Amino acid sequence: MNIAVVGTGYVGLVTGTCFAETGNQVICIDIDQNKVNQMKNGIVPIYEPGLETIFTKNNQSGNLTFTTSLKEGVKDAEIIFLALPTPPGEDGSADLSYVLGVAKDLSKIITDYKVIINKSTVPVGTAERVTAALSENLNTDLFDVVSNPEFLREGHAVKDFLYPDRVVIGTSSEKAKKILEKLYEPFVNETSPLLIMDERSSEMTKYAANSYLATRISFMNEIANLCEKVGANVDNVRRGIGSDNRIGPKFLYPGIGFGGSCFPKDILALVKTAKQYGYSFETLKTIIQINEIQKSKLVQKIQNYFGKDLTGKTIAIWGLAFKPETDDIREASSIVTMNGLLEAGASLRVYDPAAMEHIKSIFGDKLFYASNQNEALEGADALGIVTEWKQFKEANLGEIKATLKEAVIFDGRNIYELEQMAKFGFY
Ligand SMILES: NC(=O)c1ccc[n+]([C@@H]2O[C@H](COP(=O)([O-])OP(=O)(O)OC[C@H]3O[C@@H](n4cnc5c(N)ncnc54)[C@H](O)[C@@H]3O)[C@@H](O)[C@H]2O)c1
Repeated sequence: MNIAVVGTGYVGLVTGTCFAETGNQVICIDIDQNKVNQMKNGIVPIYEPGLETIFTKNNQSGNLTFTTSLKEGVKDAEIIFLALPTPPGEDGSADLSYVLGVAKDLSKIITDYKVIINKSTVPVGTAERVTAALSENLNTDLFDVVSNPEFLREGHAVKDFLYPDRVVIGTSSEKAKKILEKLYEPFVNETSPLLIMDERSSEMTKYAANSYLATRISFMNEIANLCEKVGANVDNVRRGIGSDNRIGPKFLYPGIGFGGSCFPKDILALVKTAKQYGYSFETLKTIIQINEIQKSKLVQKIQNYFGKDLTGKTIAIWGLAFKPETDDIREASSIVTMNGLLEAGASLRVYDPAAMEHIKSIFGDKLFYASNQNEALEGADALGIVTEWKQFKEANLGEIKATLKEAVIFDGRNIYELEQMAKFGFY
């Protein structure tokens, strides 16, 4: 099938590459000339495990091409995915200007039937708004608008896309439904179903999924806070409840808050949607508050140990991306942590396996950028763990102890076992 993907970020590039991998002809469109040039030269502009191999293969075979021109990109496409940003607007609601702007541009370009698919995370009612934007200049026979939210996780995006738990399609058009069924045939089966529903339910499904996952994290963070007070070990509690079939083990890891480009903005947007419909979504409002508090926990703990004024103290920071296996730092807890520590007077030596360049573009010369995790420890008083990269979990505790001035680790992600730490003489 001929597919155009508009917006070639974390979602669009993975979507385009994976559809090319299953034998489709895909053209990716982005307004970022620099990004398009990179891709044309065979460079993957984001860090995503496994992406480069299939990107290169499909780029070289000619299945995957790139352009900055919307007109050229959609000319031969029967299917157009919109994988555009939907950042929070000033009031917290999803900013639809990218999506509606492109819909309007498309309305002036399209001359034959196209299925236009919202892959961006968009509030309930957006399919109708995109339809209205297209209808301004276009006969409704020439297009259908479909909701097809994306559930991939950064860091596992290729696997998640190729082997999804389910694919959700929201459409009331039989014609579009048949096209989408054919497109997704290689990806779905009895245990990974294609779920077809109305547009509004499909749009809501994405927000409900992200809000529920964030709720689990914040719930466990509160359990962890209480465990500290009552003298229980939250890791034991996590294992104790996660082995219950009704609960399951995932998204129960406490830590210094969730970040990323999705959970924080999607929860805010759902609270906003609820408000627009006269409903006050109390659980989600609390989740946002808990997460804000949680994000500053590491700074508090460091200050509890060294005192409020951290002048003269050097802290090594391991992990800057909002989670492991990505270079994405949007809404990352590292940003809150480092700002708090700098404000208190500390010097920071930081390291992340993938996100250094992004952090440099925000913090400039305020930080020392180590070239590896051990270099970050040199001359540091203590170590703070902000992102739970596997290589940090496997670090040599003896070496850490020998390098740090004090035997203290502030483990913001509970990656080390307390007993093991005690054996090495850590505080
Ligand atoms: N990142 C995730 O893990 C994830 C997962 C599921 C859903 N989503 C949703 O998918 C959407 C996209 O997210 P993302 O993380 O891929 O965003 P992103 O910021 O990584 O990528 C968006 C891309 O769109 C491009 N763009 C902006 N305006 C454009 C225009 N007019 N024409 C063409 N390209 C344009 C940008 O240059 C950028 O490359 C959002 O709604 C997000 O909530 C994201």
